[in-house]
Amino acid sequence: MADGQGAKFHMTGNFGPVDDEATLLNLEVHGAVPPELSGVYMRNGGNPRNGDTEHFFFGDGMLNGVRLGGGKAQWFKNRWVRTACYEGKLRTDMAHFGDFRVTSANTNIVRHGGKFFALEEGAFPYEVDVDMNSIGINDFGGKLKTAFTAHPKICPETGEMHGFGYSPMPPWLTYHRFDAAGRLVESQEIPVKGPTMIHDFGMTRNHVVFMDLPVVFDLEMAIAGKMPFRWSDDYGARLGIMARGGKAEDIRWVDVAPCYVFHPGNAYEENGELVMTVCRFEKLWVGQSYDFEYPPQMHEWRINLTTLAVRETAIDDAHCEFPRVDDRRAGLVTRYNYVAGAETSGATEFNLLLKYDLKTGARSSLAFPNMGLSEFVFAPGGPGEDEGWLVGFAYDKTRNGSDFIVVDAQGMNEVARIRLPRRVPFGFHGNWFEGA
Ligand SMILES: [Fe+2]
Repeated sequence: MADGQGAKFHMTGNFGPVDDEATLLNLEVHGAVPPELSGVYMRNGGNPRNGDTEHFFFGDGMLNGVRLGGGKAQWFKNRWVRTACYEGKLRTDMAHFGDFRVTSANTNIVRHGGKFFALEEGAFPYEVDVDMNSIGINDFGGKLKTAFTAHPKICPETGEMHGFGYSPMPPWLTYHRFDAAGRLVESQEIPVKGPTMIHDFGMTRNHVVFMDLPVVFDLEMAIAGKMPFRWSDDYGARLGIMARGGKAEDIRWVDVAPCYVFHPGNAYEENGELVMTVCRFEKLWVGQSYDFEYPPQMHEWRINLTTLAVRETAIDDAHCEFPRVDDRRAGLVTRYNYVAGAETSGATEFNLLLKYDLKTGARSSLAFPNMGLSEFVFAPGGPGEDEGWLVGFAYDKTRNGSDFIVVDAQGMNEVARIRLPRRVPFGFHGNWFEGA
């Protein structure tokens, strides 16, 4: 168990929930908000309405958002997603197992086909609007028949959204593809050996990549109301490479060293190889599913698309998570990964913003002493990769409040800090919605 973690580390400090919703105007800004930044940043996270939850990954979804425009920070808002579970109309218990309307909608917020979706991987997407008002469950006209990942990939070249759903019950894994207008146009079952936890996946220009890794569903833990997955020494670890537009029976599986990965940075094809950068855990949830026993570290899988030979490379030994790229290059060759990191292995909070240059191997960092970082995402400025800003929330322990921070990605220097008179709990994922 990493230092400082415990069965309910997620209820302490800035992991703990807030108990209200706020709309704040006239925000205090230090530095200068770039006038080119016009849009809304929204970030999702678990924030239990009743103030308590069994696991870090549970808890009602709460969106925290900041609008920037005209060189100003126009507002901050936080809003719960008013799911049926939040309203107390549906319960997240075994009686509703397999009911995809049961969602905390707490993991990510994405925009596709002109709609915003709060996502949680065990359920249908939940639609919200640009002001973070709740709309409702969206099953795409009844076409979506499975849960849907919180980490779909939007292709910058076609506008398609690729995703999947996984389930403890067959079908264990199902691939979904939506056209640029947001219509669900393809669903097909992906054959896997068993019910594993599949949090994210990869997309390249020509392929999608499924991570079939050894964190496996455990019925006893499910019945006990616990996070129902644990490590398996027997399951094995492999990646499934399927052509976009191809058939599941033609998937090519390649073995990798056993590990768990929540998040890839990006996947792309280069010189006949499929490259995927990931934050890799050596093992996860060995016998329990509360703590993260091994630090996640940047790692690269490089797969020869002809021979299927795999090369694995540890990129760095720093403890880091929440890898992101310039999403205009999602699935395309990328040089830079941006990641939240920590100076000490085993830390539960991140105080470094790291930037990996995969071409030179260089790592640059920006330290935030006495602060805890959430995920930082890329907001475009100029046309080239890395031309823009990294934005995200950071918790200032000295004043028990949070800042929304804008960092110049190329220089890795802070340009603006919006000091909020309240804290924003550590959460999961967000995105910058340009023009919203
Ligand atoms: Fe995630």
